[in-house]
Amino acid sequence: MAYAAFRSIGAYAPKKILTNDDLAKMVDTSDEWITKRTGIKERHIAAENETTSDMGVAAAKLAIERSGINVTEIDMLICATISPDYFCMPSTATIIANKLGLPGVTAFDISAACTGFVYILSIAKAFIESGMKKNILIVGAERLSAITDYSDRGTCILFGDGAGAALISATDNKEEAIIDVHTGADGTYADLLMTPNGGTGSPHDALEGEANACFMQMKGNETFKVAVRTLTKDVVDILADNDIAAEHVQHFIPHQANYRIIKAVGDALNMKDEQVVLTVGKYGNTSGASIPMAMNDVYESGKLQAGDLMLLDAFGGGLTWGSALVPFSPLK
Ligand SMILES: CC(C)(COP(=O)(O)OP(=O)(O)OC[C@H]1O[C@@H](n2cnc3c(N)ncnc32)[C@H](O)[C@@H]1OP(=O)(O)O)[C@@H](O)C(=O)NCCC(=O)NCCS
Repeated sequence: MAYAAFRSIGAYAPKKILTNDDLAKMVDTSDEWITKRTGIKERHIAAENETTSDMGVAAAKLAIERSGINVTEIDMLICATISPDYFCMPSTATIIANKLGLPGVTAFDISAACTGFVYILSIAKAFIESGMKKNILIVGAERLSAITDYSDRGTCILFGDGAGAALISATDNKEEAIIDVHTGADGTYADLLMTPNGGTGSPHDALEGEANACFMQMKGNETFKVAVRTLTKDVVDILADNDIAAEHVQHFIPHQANYRIIKAVGDALNMKDEQVVLTVGKYGNTSGASIPMAMNDVYESGKLQAGDLMLLDAFGGGLTWGSALVPFSPLK
């Protein structure tokens, strides 16, 4: 049987930075309020002509270069995004594949909001274990600034842009294998976090004259409570199912939505500060890109070593959730 190994990580953050003080000039808020409630200090924002696929390509190039796998060996590309280059089609994955010079590879997007990266990891694992594919590029890329309402202080303080990518490849060595990935969803909470306009579920007249057709809307306080509950259960379950103690995790890399959510989940697992990866302060919430961007920070700091066990945990609109136990298994 083939196993799926997590070979490499890469990420990209656009140059422009939007600080809390910048936001305080746009809506009634303050650096103090945002820092205290979320831990976010700044977020990166794409340039006017920079698309989600452009950012995905930048992250993917790094992941490919670091993987030791030839680009011609990649046989599938999956992109997780809620801010695609185009509404409906073509998928952002096909655009990224084209820009990377990967003609003919299977390419598609999935929509699982902030859980997107864990979902595409589970799909890559399944395709490799079934023997259908050998080298899969997974990309989480978001230009959330395009679907953020910068007059709504309840949401615009949270989100940023960026991308992260990873190469998952087949191995015979069980020691290198991704141990487990859990995913789930519950549509009864759909209205907590959504882009209510612009699809077939919205009233037709909602689109007319609306520049804000695809803006995100959120019930922040309720989302916060469900997030803490779901994320905690998620990691407790995956550790118990695999008989792994939290202390054996080198890097707990949760979705970077809010410092207080991450702290609550980390505390529930008795995680030490050095185990918990925190990048929300400088990137904000980048949805499907947040976990690989955080992982890339650990990699570039030199702290992600071959064999290190990573615990991933995510939660997002849908609602969706997921967790993963992943040893870092680079080829070089
Ligand atoms: C959004 C969030 C920071 C708001 O914090 P909160 O403590 O829940 O705040 P509430 O929504 O209860 O609002 C409390 C007050 O702050 C105000 N407020 C909201 N946003 C504000 C802002 N940016 N600046 C100043 N005040 C703000 C509200 O209007 C409200 O005022 P009121 O009491 O006069 O009505 C928090 O709910 C959160 O992070 N939720 C999770 C969001 C998330 O992670 N979503 C993505 C999941 S993937």
